Amino acid sequence: MILIDGKKAAEKLKKEIATEVAAMIDSNRRAPHLVAILVGEDPASQTYVSNKEKASHAVGITSSIYRLSAKTTEKKLLDLVDFLNKDEEVDGFIVQLPLPEHINVERIINSIDYRKDVDGFHPMNVGKMVLGQPCMVSATPQGILYLLETYKIETKGKNIVVLGRSNIVGTPMSILLSRKSDFGNATVTLCHSRTENLTEITQKADIIIAAIGQPEFLKADMVKKGVVIIDVGMHRIEDENTEKGYHLTGDVDFKEIAKKASLITPVPGGVGPMTIAALLKNTLLAAKKNTQ
Ligand code: GUN
Repeated sequence: MILIDGKKAAEKLKKEIATEVAAMIDSNRRAPHLVAILVGEDPASQTYVSNKEKASHAVGITSSIYRLSAKTTEKKLLDLVDFLNKDEEVDGFIVQLPLPEHINVERIINSIDYRKDVDGFHPMNVGKMVLGQPCMVSATPQGILYLLETYKIETKGKNIVVLGRSNIVGTPMSILLSRKSDFGNATVTLCHSRTENLTEITQKADIIIAAIGQPEFLKADMVKKGVVIIDVGMHRIEDENTEKGYHLTGDVDFKEIAKKASLITPVPGGVGPMTIAALLKNTLLAAKKNTQ
């Protein structure tokens, strides 16, 4: 079994980004600027946003965070999005999800200038992605494609099962893997909560992308020997034996499935670091267009 080292793969990609950022600055252009909007105090979101900030600084990307109270009105958030859309010093921004229930997520995402939508969530980017046109691709699926590329995992003609149909991961992932392109050309089955005979389907998979949002959902008896496992899940499980009071686990029963898999991502240290690296890459692409 080979452990897919997302941290190492992300470091390589970040090194390439840092080199390009340095070249921009050398040619008297300003550094790319990424902004994150964080509404409320969800602990996981706070960690994600601060990790994104640290990673930005490490590659020379300027980063700012707008921290808004959980009681912020939708109107106030729309005004901030509008302000950032118009700010020429900002190349890309993200609105960290989830948002408080009183805010309509769709309305917020639709109001972002798609050229600054480095999350790749705007309908314009999703539409272009479906059609195979150049666009901002959602960071987690893009990060997974980079992992497949780094580990030279063949997808052409393979049976790939994607577990979970979220707008952020499962749906775009299934489309990207089935496209006529490098690290596409797969026969993709998108499974979800209404899928019948799930085990029958997962047992035939050469590659499984688990993004179902349930801790250790995928068990060893659901996969065949030699399967490649990409685990997108990230769950905090209460654990009084750890200093933080919790440990992290994915959507996969790692300990048991690792005995059958040919390659597998750990949690943490698998998909997570690649998501951040892919976000930085999108920011660099946005900045190149914005400042050329
Ligand atoms: N919440 C969980 N993942 C993401 C992501 O990739 N982007 C944003 N904006 N919010 C998230």
